[in-house]
Amino acid sequence: MVDFSPVNTERLTLMRPTCEDLDEVHQLYADPGVWEHFPSLRHIDRAQTAEHLRREQHSWDEVGLGSWIARTPAPDGPGELVGVGGCNLRSGIAWNLGYRLARHAWGHGYAQEIIAAAQVAAAQVHPDLPVTAYLLEHNVGSKRAAERAGLHLVWRGVDVGNPDPSAVRLVYADRTLDDALLDVLVQRE
Ligand SMILES: CC(C)(COP(=O)(O)OP(=O)(O)OC[C@H]1O[C@@H](n2cnc3c(N)ncnc32)[C@H](O)[C@@H]1OP(=O)(O)O)[C@@H](O)C(=O)NCCC(=O)NCCS
Repeated sequence: MVDFSPVNTERLTLMRPTCEDLDEVHQLYADPGVWEHFPSLRHIDRAQTAEHLRREQHSWDEVGLGSWIARTPAPDGPGELVGVGGCNLRSGIAWNLGYRLARHAWGHGYAQEIIAAAQVAAAQVHPDLPVTAYLLEHNVGSKRAAERAGLHLVWRGVDVGNPDPSAVRLVYADRTLDDALLDVLVQRE
């Protein structure tokens, strides 16, 4: 099995998460500035972030791939946290691309570097599975990031469970998805 931790991109070092990342990842997940499009998901308790990291570590153990912790390389020590992102398996039938950068890291193309690395890794682990991205229609930055990465819109509908009843969910993918697969991914009736 290929080891996808670390992966070095042009400007970033991507590592699987460890417990030592907890404080910085919590700071990121607790920042209202990175949850403007879905404020109710912001982490208000460190335990939420710890649980999130546990799930990520489980993904790495099971699949050999998951979300990375992205940092700028440093000669000694871990380097500054840029954000998190990568591909997780969704229901065993698709890759789910996620990305969340610290505010200071927006607008430098870092999400593109993480996404490109995730696309390469996903294609090595399960090339038969589509790479998808789930995002809210009003999250323009996330839409742009998905489109820049070559994904296209395959589904648009109500965001079930969102406290904002007007929220619209979009599904992007790197290929055409058949209806049966979409049904599972968006759990439509
Ligand atoms: C979504 C998110 C990761 C996008 O971050 P981003 O930095 O805009 O993403 P990209 O890597 O695609 O960067 C592209 C931007 O960097 C600029 N850029 C600067 N240098 C660049 C370079 N070397 N290469 C590419 N783009 C570069 C581009 O011009 C572009 O700016 P623009 O959008 O104003 O045109 C970020 O907004 C975020 O973390 N949001 C909060 C979390 C979130 O909503 N996540 C998605 C949930 S579905």
